[in-house]
Amino acid sequence: MVSSGVNFGLDLAAEIAELKRERNAVILAHNYQVPEIQDIADYVGDSLGLSYRAAETDADVILFCGVHFMAETAKIVNPGKRVLLPDLDAGCSLSESCPPEKLQAYLEEHADKNYYVIAYINCSAGVKALSDVICTSGNAEKIVRSAPADRNILFVPDQNLGAWVMERTGRKMYLWQGTCYIHVEFTARSINGIRERYPDAPVVAHPECTYAVRLLADEVCSTEKMVTFCRESPAREIIVVTEAGMLHRLKKEIPGKVFIPGPTENCFCGECRFMKMNTLEKAHEALLKMTPEITLPEPLRKRAEAPILRMLELSR
Ligand code: 13P
Ligand code: SF4
Repeated sequence: MVSSGVNFGLDLAAEIAELKRERNAVILAHNYQVPEIQDIADYVGDSLGLSYRAAETDADVILFCGVHFMAETAKIVNPGKRVLLPDLDAGCSLSESCPPEKLQAYLEEHADKNYYVIAYINCSAGVKALSDVICTSGNAEKIVRSAPADRNILFVPDQNLGAWVMERTGRKMYLWQGTCYIHVEFTARSINGIRERYPDAPVVAHPECTYAVRLLADEVCSTEKMVTFCRESPAREIIVVTEAGMLHRLKKEIPGKVFIPGPTENCFCGECRFMKMNTLEKAHEALLKMTPEITLPEPLRKRAEAPILRMLELSR
């Protein structure tokens, strides 16, 4: 039996484990979550891995420890399950940059372009519903390569990921002008500075970083691929240019190496304030009270589901 409300010194992690059994719940966590959450999750990964896990789970309840668009994606592919997000305000600057009404108006205004819309998963259900296919940083190249050759592509909402995929594929795309407020804080100057201190350390950077930073990186990839890169690299010290939460998983899974967080221009912490809204206490509360829960009107859910399923099929 689980105690209610305040945790009087009991081990919160143990209580969560018991609640999880009672609810037949699964805990999915993104690589940027706080260490205490990553440590109690059934699966920790990038947006692509989390989408597959969410689509495949047979649990009745998904406690999604990430940001809103991630939990919403889990709900879209699981209409019959209850999807909980520890803090409903955990948003994303990329998602905010592309409100569905604005995208709808843009598409109407440029109807002559007959756009094939590729939406980075960091967007709302409303934007997904207006898209042809979804992608993540882990499969963006593959998804863009599979787009019809005779269509104009509109890529939303991340201009940096979009520009990186254009470089990789040679496919011209129209780019929505959104950015991740964390990844644009890394600059050529800040990365050159850390390279001078660790001249032998390779740099691995997320594609949400700017062109200037990507140019300085030895590898540009999604957070899941960063784990593989760091494991396989012969280097003992590696500079990691992404949200700071990534370092917990790297240190835990690859204990013999040293991971140096890429510094930002203003020595800003490199932590996504949205990702960090979730805490172990809120995760416990969510499972105990079965709220906050993600809900969606069925017509919207159905329209948003098709491009996600297309992505899952295309990137197998
Ligand atoms: P990944 O899919 O690479 O984990 O990226 C998600 C994200 O929000 C990056 O800021
Ligand atoms: Fe969004 Fe950036 Fe936070 Fe990722 S790190 S959730 S892209 S604001």
